[in-house]
Amino acid sequence: MITTPNIKTALPGPKAAAIIARDAKRVSTSYTRDYPFVMARGEGAVVEDVDGNVFLDCAAGIAVTSTGHSHPDVVKAIVDQAHKYLHMSGTDFFYEPQVQLAEEMAAIVPIDGEVRSFFGNSGTEANEAALKLAKYHTKRMNIIAFLGSFHGRTLGALAATSSKFIQRRGFGPMMPGVFHAPYANCYRCPVGLKPESCQAECLGFVEEQILVHLVSPDEVAGVLVEPIQGEGGYVVPAPVFHQRLRDLTTRHGMMLIMDEVQSGMGRTGRMFAAEHFGVKADIVTIAKGIASGLPLSATAARADVMNWPPGAHASTFGGNPLSCVAALETIKVLRAGLIQNAETVGNHLIDRLLALKDKYPLIGDVRGKGLMVGVELVRDRQTKERATTERDRIVQAMFKRGVLILGAGRNALRFAPPLVINTVQIDSVLDIFEEALGELGNCKKVRVGRLGT
Ligand SMILES: Cc1ncc(COP(=O)(O)O)c(C=O)c1O
Repeated sequence: MITTPNIKTALPGPKAAAIIARDAKRVSTSYTRDYPFVMARGEGAVVEDVDGNVFLDCAAGIAVTSTGHSHPDVVKAIVDQAHKYLHMSGTDFFYEPQVQLAEEMAAIVPIDGEVRSFFGNSGTEANEAALKLAKYHTKRMNIIAFLGSFHGRTLGALAATSSKFIQRRGFGPMMPGVFHAPYANCYRCPVGLKPESCQAECLGFVEEQILVHLVSPDEVAGVLVEPIQGEGGYVVPAPVFHQRLRDLTTRHGMMLIMDEVQSGMGRTGRMFAAEHFGVKADIVTIAKGIASGLPLSATAARADVMNWPPGAHASTFGGNPLSCVAALETIKVLRAGLIQNAETVGNHLIDRLLALKDKYPLIGDVRGKGLMVGVELVRDRQTKERATTERDRIVQAMFKRGVLILGAGRNALRFAPPLVINTVQIDSVLDIFEEALGELGNCKKVRVGRLGT
């Protein structure tokens, strides 16, 4: 078991540099690569680049490889299925893996009563399906979403996304009828209160502004919300936020749509993050970790809500058999210990990060559940000035030392490793994080980079 990185070449090494040069000529310029990692192979929480450098993976392919890279049981299920058939299309034909997966979904999603599922290929497709379903079922046209949220990049989901303007710039006008409210970011409370004495007053913006001045409640199809905001900075709301949102949506006959694309499939130490808040949804969207890396998404809904007729929504590739068997195996492996591991290693990670917070004033906030942990960096704990450049530099410094990690929001780091990571590996990651913090301390005055993007 590899527990520490091993960097043998300058980064990028010669083979990586050659591939990146070819990529630069032919691949879309819209991707957001922060550092030159070129994958050769992976196992568990360890990845190797094409030059033989070995890294610890704290990004999991953007929170996807839940069971670790190439988990043998998942690989075997995929290979066995590949020998039988690769594709048939659940739109026009039947195959058992898709039915089995829908049965599993019904058993695990945080929805009361009977459940049906629609299968797509990506998070954005899951949210497209959810938005369409909410509109279809309620016969209403409007949606409420939250500032800082990320729901995807296709045009429906993009209208609800409000993480960074670069994701929306140049693509307007957006799908009409989407209203954004402040998210319960208790570190930067949008209504200036303290979490101890607050009853999710930020939802007053929905109840007393949006639903009074902008749109009639009986014209709102649903509220789309991430239980824990992901791209927006790994922001964990107080449970009362979700509980009040549940009450509000029930009262007005709106669908509560929980986007568990990033927070689902064991990542938070529960199968779904909604379980931390004691809330059940009407529709749940799932992707990323569901199939350990194969493209798959699910839009699960109350069976009485998912009552649209044949032809209303479908997908040629969605729920393809390879992805379905990978998901079935993933769920088995998660249940057999990885959800528990996410909680145990996650608690250890948070404890050590809190200890680092006592030592390094740059760390403004440590928050998270399980292995979905965010660290917000600030230049001043009083003013909470965002340390965006510093965050970017830490990402680079950790990469150079052999840790893959991603930013979240404007100035947070996200710790989102595969759920197989163990405490020894996470300790290596944290030692490297501390070295990076130390390095930054030595050149504190230099401020260059991508502030504000
Ligand atoms: C919460 C959430 N929803 C939706 C998406 C979109 O998923 P995809 O990139 O698979 O379309 C993401 C992606 O990061 C996400 O984090």
